[in-house]
Amino acid sequence: MTGDLFEGLPDLNPRQIHLADGAVLLRGFAGEVDRVLLCAVEEVIAQAPLRHLVTPGGYRMSVSMTCCGRLGWVSDRSGYRYDPIDPASGQAWPAIPAVFTEMARNAASQAGFESFTPDTCLINCYEPGSRLSLHQDRHERDVVAPIVSVSLGLPAVFLFGGMHRSDRPQHYRLTHGDVAVWGGPARFAFHGIAPLADGHHPMLGRRRINVTFRKAS
Ligand code: SIN
Ligand code: FE2
Repeated sequence: MTGDLFEGLPDLNPRQIHLADGAVLLRGFAGEVDRVLLCAVEEVIAQAPLRHLVTPGGYRMSVSMTCCGRLGWVSDRSGYRYDPIDPASGQAWPAIPAVFTEMARNAASQAGFESFTPDTCLINCYEPGSRLSLHQDRHERDVVAPIVSVSLGLPAVFLFGGMHRSDRPQHYRLTHGDVAVWGGPARFAFHGIAPLADGHHPMLGRRRINVTFRKAS
């Protein structure tokens, strides 16, 4: 079910869906640069391979992840943190590809957040059944900068809730090229991804790749 079909007043721009104050879904915003974005994703993965992190509670995450940027988001038995070093290699994370930064900045600006300069980029890889339970992004020091999140490959159901875990989330279908941006009053909105349905995407096969930009320091 796609929640945006049921949200009352139509949006002025049907490609720009209002999720909440400070949160917008830019339909197809990254569609024209999908190939270059995916090439850049492959380059990052070649240097910092995807891995299934373990939560502080000891669960293996169903989404595999890697990072680029000055800081990378990591999770292990000791907790969640941003780390300048990839624990798998002992090296710094790969730099954020220029095409990523440009796309993220343009999307943020389109959503009303000027001069966004991410210093961390998380690449999430979903396979059928992978999910990300409702959470807030709250390990970043910079809470003024928005979060920019790009969807590639198989469609997913995005759960976008309120400021409390108990707020019932709306459901939105995210497809290849869609970009969600949230910040300001929506910066700490709970969000997640429902278990990925199986399917075949012409560029990514049975996978969904999500690339999320933040300013962590
Ligand atoms: C995230 O919350 O880090 C990822 C969301 C998504 O996969 O769209
Ligand atoms: Fe998140």
